[in-house]
Amino acid sequence: MATLELSGLTKRFGGLLVVDSLDLTVAEGEIVSLIGPNGAGKTTVFNLISGVFAPDEGDILLDGSSIVGLPRHEIARRGVARTFQTLRVFLNMTVAENVIAAEYASGKVGAVRSFFGTPAARAEAARMRAVAEERLRFFGERLIGYRLDQPAYSLSYANRRRLEIARAMATGAGLLLLDEPAAGMNPAETQEITRLIGELRDDAGYTILVIEHDMHVVEGISDRVVALDHGVKIAEGSFEDVAADPAVIEAYLGTGGAATK
Ligand SMILES: Nc1ncnc2c1ncn2[C@@H]1O[C@H](COP(=O)(O)OP(=O)(O)OP(=O)(O)O)[C@@H](O)[C@H]1O
Ligand SMILES: [Mg+2]
Repeated sequence: MATLELSGLTKRFGGLLVVDSLDLTVAEGEIVSLIGPNGAGKTTVFNLISGVFAPDEGDILLDGSSIVGLPRHEIARRGVARTFQTLRVFLNMTVAENVIAAEYASGKVGAVRSFFGTPAARAEAARMRAVAEERLRFFGERLIGYRLDQPAYSLSYANRRRLEIARAMATGAGLLLLDEPAAGMNPAETQEITRLIGELRDDAGYTILVIEHDMHVVEGISDRVVALDHGVKIAEGSFEDVAADPAVIEAYLGTGGAATK
């Protein structure tokens, strides 16, 4: 199960009110998109949910229990995984190692065992690799086969984004927070990631909150859209309703450009 409920969520940085009394829910199995101009506070919302910062006011309920004040690893252990706007894959580790590390870091597989070289350790390593491969298979052939053992620095930008999602999946989370998954992708890759995000919910059962600037992606994946401007929710509803909302159009025009189409 994975449901998320933000109520009255507020965060200030110095004198700047960055998230302002935000109410937002994501129901089990729902895909909700968080949109808004640059600096609207979207990534800060992710940082609050994942425990990077504590909110100044308000509450965050995960499956009905507050997670405010919990350390990041505990929030991750309870089933929240995220990707980053600026990628955080380990460039010097291989593709497989990146996914295996995420699985260990989730705390769901216990501490790294220290009896290297024993048959039990080898069996465990083989099992972890098989699990990693299974996660990566979600992206078709792109990250398996010979790529499993290639360092992440050798991957294309789009493949690094895919690898980050595989790392989030490997933590065993039920709730995925995806920060601009299509950023830097070409149109074909963008179409593919739009389809994959739908499959993450339909086939893999994730509940998803996604930040995205590309309105084709938002239109393609969202059950609901929430628009932020200066930390305030200015619109909420279907993609069609939010995209046509005068306050949303004004917010994007006010920053000198419409949402990227
Ligand atoms: N750690 C921080 N310390 C101080 N100010 C911050 C911090 N993180 C974010 N801010 C400020 O909070 C505001 C919201 O930033 P945030 O990164 O959440 O916006 P965003 O909606 O994700 O924007 P973008 O679309 O550009 O990614 C900005 O004014 C930013 O400068
Ligand atoms: Mg951001």
